Amino acid sequence: MRVALLGCGVVGSEVVRLLREQADDLAARVGTPLELAGIAVRRPERVRAGVDPALVTTDAQGLVTRDDVDIVIEVIGGIEPARTLMLEAMKTGKSVVTANKALLAEDGATLFAAAREYGADLYYEASVAGAIPLLRPLRESLVGDHVHRVLGIVNGTTNYILDQMDSAGAGFNEALEEAQSLGYAEADPTADVEGFDAAAKAAILAQLAFHTPVTAADVHREGITEVSAADVAGATGMDCVVKLLAICERVPSDDGRNGRGVSVRVYPAMIPRTHPLASVREAYNAVFVEAESAGSLMFYGAGAGGAPTASAVLGDLVAVARNVVGGTPGPVEVTYAKLPVLPMGET
Ligand code: HSE
Repeated sequence: MRVALLGCGVVGSEVVRLLREQADDLAARVGTPLELAGIAVRRPERVRAGVDPALVTTDAQGLVTRDDVDIVIEVIGGIEPARTLMLEAMKTGKSVVTANKALLAEDGATLFAAAREYGADLYYEASVAGAIPLLRPLRESLVGDHVHRVLGIVNGTTNYILDQMDSAGAGFNEALEEAQSLGYAEADPTADVEGFDAAAKAAILAQLAFHTPVTAADVHREGITEVSAADVAGATGMDCVVKLLAICERVPSDDGRNGRGVSVRVYPAMIPRTHPLASVREAYNAVFVEAESAGSLMFYGAGAGGAPTASAVLGDLVAVARNVVGGTPGPVEVTYAKLPVLPMGET
């Protein structure tokens, strides 16, 4: 099975390492070896040590359309050229594994339509909450249940910053620099600190949980740039901590099981230190899913960083490779419930 990798930064280079170091185990789990066919990057001179230079190319378009490629992994991020490359890959019969939350939250519908049309897999566990298995539980394990609410911390960088401000008295900028040096932050940290990253993840979660179209633009969003040291100290005085929360809720109505609509929002909130989310430290993420029959489930783990995110990518890769071997694609999102996304104040 031949795999093309688009992007070789913090996550991509970890994918390369894991593919090499775990080659025998992965081959046994899939039933056939997984071989890297090529790695497309914009700047070959920046590719990290341990990556075979013979595999590196700047011709991403050529790579995704090559006949000897079966699966494409996209870890470039951003809207273009990622969207065009993934669509090309699916059109030419390849399945896709992606970590691209921005694109899924802005234009997932186009990608899902292509997956359906071309019978390709589109797996994206790594797009939300790093290593934590959360999307496939929503997409598969809980698909027979009725989800009421998904709530939690889905951005590692802002959690790291708020945690450092709370526990070490760090300043905002100092904590952000540390988060960046640890490989948690997006290329442009505005996406993290202004809540865009969490809003994209909230849109993906809401769409999966409620089977209704939700884009990042539908999400009420506030970041943490206005959270001051005084706010954090004030919260401490009330035995609370400040956390950036993502909240996706089905808004109930008296007549109709699906409710009046959905509410999806991201903002910094004070939560009591006794709440389980208050003990989520550093760049960890934690998400509660509340469903009618399953009750309340908590998902917790490393939400950012190269290796944890690469773990989610590899999990998807094995799942997709098994589907290719078996000739049966996995699930494709169906957003049959056309629920309105209600603005703040109308919930
Ligand atoms: N910048 C993101 C975060 C990376 O800090 O959570 C993982 O999506």
